[in-house]
Amino acid sequence: MSNIQAGLTSEGPIQDKVKVAYTILAEQSCCGPSENSKLGNRGYTPEELIGLPESVLALSDGCGNPTALGAMREGDTVLDLGSGGGIDVFLAARKVGRTGRVIGLDMTPRMVESAQANLARLGLDNVEFKLGEIEHIPLAAESVDIIMSNCVICLSPDKDQVFREMFRVLRPGGRLAIADEVALKPFSSEEKADPEKWCECVTGAVTEAEYSNMLREVGFENVYVKQIHRTMESSSRVFSAFISGAKPLRL
Ligand SMILES: C[S@@+](CC[C@H](N)C(=O)[O-])C[C@H]1O[C@@H](n2cnc3c(N)ncnc32)[C@H](O)[C@@H]1O
Repeated sequence: MSNIQAGLTSEGPIQDKVKVAYTILAEQSCCGPSENSKLGNRGYTPEELIGLPESVLALSDGCGNPTALGAMREGDTVLDLGSGGGIDVFLAARKVGRTGRVIGLDMTPRMVESAQANLARLGLDNVEFKLGEIEHIPLAAESVDIIMSNCVICLSPDKDQVFREMFRVLRPGGRLAIADEVALKPFSSEEKADPEKWCECVTGAVTEAEYSNMLREVGFENVYVKQIHRTMESSSRVFSAFISGAKPLRL
């Protein structure tokens, strides 16, 4: 039995199991080397990774590069949902500059500790990491220009609530820059009950139509889901995608 399997056998809600899985990942990745080829496959260029410590690269566990969506401008306030070790937060911090601000939010205490240690190594003053759930974002309404996220929303058992919270904290005209796993067809309840596959970002994924309908229902416009590549490592039932959208300027 793998470490993750052992940590996942306990009774309880799926969110507790996700926390266990990512605590284990944070502990295992802390000291190991990163695979730069894997980062290249996810859309990070070698140039943009220059200057990021190994401890940031080793913890990267996303499915795309949301900072490449081109939505960030100098001075923006950016929120990263499920920031992990902080790779996208640190890349976004360069784009928004000293007049901007980037906030990383993650519910796994061990991940937030790692991200804060990485922040101390980089010495940036326009970045902060918060402990909390993306279903209950600890930020004021209309306080954020861009929400990004990388392979996290598929892990939430209550995506409607996540999307409502995203809509609440975004300013009018605010934009989404999301990389996530999307299901080719819906997973059955039995498949969704497999905690290991859920925590691997597979069976919590919803289809492109479900994803975009949920975003539109809470009020987002210009919603667009674009396939990046099929995620061969984990399952042929999901693909990685960029999801964009915007909160209307006038409600
Ligand atoms: C697959 S990792 C991706 C981490 C990071 N975005 C990256 O690209 O490296 C998923 C992260 O999301 C966090 N997470 C999962 N569900 C969450 C939730 N409901 N609220 C906050 N964080 C969550 C986990 O703790 C973990 O750090």
